Amino acid sequence: MANIDSLSNLLTGIAYDVSATYAQKGIDAFNQYYSNLGIIAKPYIRNGFLDEEKSKERFMAETAMLHLASTLIEKWCVLHEISVTHNFLDFHDLGSYFGWYKLPNNLTLEIALWVQTNPDIQDAPQIISLLAENSLVGLRRRSLGEFYTPTQIAEHLYSLTGFNPINICSQKIVDPACGSGNLLRVVVSDVVKSVLNGRIDPTTAIAGLNNNIYGYDIQPVAVLMTKLQLLLVSLPILEKSHVNSKSIYEFLPFDNIKLIDPLSNPKDYWDIFAQFDLVIGNPPYLKVIKDKLPSKEGFEDIFFGQPNLYQMFLWWAIRATRSNGNITFLIPQSIRSGQYFRKLRIGISKACQIKAITCFTDQEGVFDTVKQQMMIISLHKANDQTQPDVIIRKSSNGDNLGCLKEIRLHQNQVLLESTGESLWYISDSELDYEILSGVYNYSKLLKNIEGIAILNGGFVWNQNKPILRRVSEGNTVPLISAGSIGVHQFTFPPKDERLQKRLFVEREYGLSEPGYSTRSILIKRTTPKKLQGRRIIACELPTTFLEIYPVYFCENHVNLIILTNETEHYLAGLTAWLNSKLANFIFGMMNGSSHLSKYELGLLPVSEDLLDKLETMTQINDRQKMMSKVDELILAFYNLSPQQIERVNHIVPSLA
Ligand SMILES: C[S@@+](CC[C@H](N)C(=O)[O-])C[C@H]1O[C@@H](n2cnc3c(N)ncnc32)[C@H](O)[C@@H]1O
Repeated sequence: MANIDSLSNLLTGIAYDVSATYAQKGIDAFNQYYSNLGIIAKPYIRNGFLDEEKSKERFMAETAMLHLASTLIEKWCVLHEISVTHNFLDFHDLGSYFGWYKLPNNLTLEIALWVQTNPDIQDAPQIISLLAENSLVGLRRRSLGEFYTPTQIAEHLYSLTGFNPINICSQKIVDPACGSGNLLRVVVSDVVKSVLNGRIDPTTAIAGLNNNIYGYDIQPVAVLMTKLQLLLVSLPILEKSHVNSKSIYEFLPFDNIKLIDPLSNPKDYWDIFAQFDLVIGNPPYLKVIKDKLPSKEGFEDIFFGQPNLYQMFLWWAIRATRSNGNITFLIPQSIRSGQYFRKLRIGISKACQIKAITCFTDQEGVFDTVKQQMMIISLHKANDQTQPDVIIRKSSNGDNLGCLKEIRLHQNQVLLESTGESLWYISDSELDYEILSGVYNYSKLLKNIEGIAILNGGFVWNQNKPILRRVSEGNTVPLISAGSIGVHQFTFPPKDERLQKRLFVEREYGLSEPGYSTRSILIKRTTPKKLQGRRIIACELPTTFLEIYPVYFCENHVNLIILTNETEHYLAGLTAWLNSKLANFIFGMMNGSSHLSKYELGLLPVSEDLLDKLETMTQINDRQKMMSKVDELILAFYNLSPQQIERVNHIVPSLA
């Protein structure tokens, strides 16, 4: 691996020189860059991405990064007697944004010396991108959803595609949001390996790479970095073919890596125009505003609520793939059960077979600073209705991908599809699916039980600060926050000091949020980390509370279940079910994040017979004892085997 400290020193030296030269030479180029980026990126921007000052810093950082990476390659080629008759940035049109800067001789010499002492430069562009992002002010931002795919995850993702590199001349591959090209780089490396093994001849491989590797991004720097990375990993082919009379840039221009927003003209790529055999991606994860999008047409089929770019890219990929082609994407786990992705899940089931899923269970530390639970999904665009097995793997942080246990399941065990719903249940143990199907066979979905309404509390306290009160006075009603809710425990006022200033709400203001006036089950919307394995935290609102406060508000961090007179007898039993080990176990397979929406609650299985039986158990005063009796009854009701019971106890341990 390239020496990181010395690369970092080189980068800092260049960045310093770029900023010293900018005022004299760079302003025109920046103005061009800024106005063109503004046009293409505007629909998606967040966090001041197009703020002029920030853009200027970013522009300088990108200039430094590209000059370092391209000069490294050029010096390496000189050392290996490979012809480079052009300058990389002069050769490619987009290079003109950054070509205003010329490296001074002393820095060029330093780079040449660096290459002499570090002959292995394969991973240098990737390291330079990361270094630039971590050390140069202008690049420290994620406003276009850019973070890069760690190599081991990129390699695992590629291994799920099933792509055979000897097909590089006949099959087209695209990464529609290619960033600095980390995913395409793995594909190209595999083609190179086949050339070195003698499975493909170098000339065929060069033609295949130029014709069939596609990558799109809306940032010029991403397009150029991708071209550089792909060129770098392809160099062994040039060495092998002894094609050193022409410049390397002419041999491998990678003309299909382009500055394009594929979402703006999707119909040019879809259906009868679908040309890709493989679409890979780690698309941006950003909520976007529907009315700002350049094209909504064709995405309406999968939109529900506020769209997210990853959802659009996945749909784009499915429709841009030829029949019998494959799609492999790294995406957030919110797709598994989130309501906003319901239509997309249904669309996927109709168009594709799910071939493989790999989930990453850690929320942090897997993808740099991103705090999202991610998964890889591999799809096959089938033109028949057969459903092959899905291969499921789980990794904590992506470090152990080579030796993961895998299980194979029929697709209909993984997808719960009923009455217009589609959910993905994920686990790496077959036993878990046995438990799951046993429960669903004897249950209904909670949302289908008549006389039960699942709501979100709805009160957004920080939008209503003037009417919040510490004490009850005049015309106030209590405001229930998540801090009042524990497992079978309701505490009002909650103990947390920070909540004391918002215990009551002045009623006179004509709030749009309704006050509630019936008994209810209160459920936290976010599960704290310390309750390992347990995802649902629910309690009954005590009658004594309603006697004192006949009307109450609930914060939006609280979900509540309201029952009618006809279903009120389920109140205690349903609270017991929600807090039970088995319900938590099932919820954990359904949803990978720490959030719990009213939509997902509605999809939990519930048996009315069981609720009746549980009610008597809830009379036991001692909470621990009551919960363990409830769990015993539930596990017996569903007829779980000793092994299955052990598994549930392992995943959801008893509360301390
Ligand atoms: C998560 S990064 C991709 C990382 C890449 N797979 C890698 O590992 O190098 C997402 C990329 O999407 C790009 N992007 C955002 N919106 C886009 C759009 N509408 N069209 C194409 N690319 C877009 C961003 O510029 C960013 O480079």
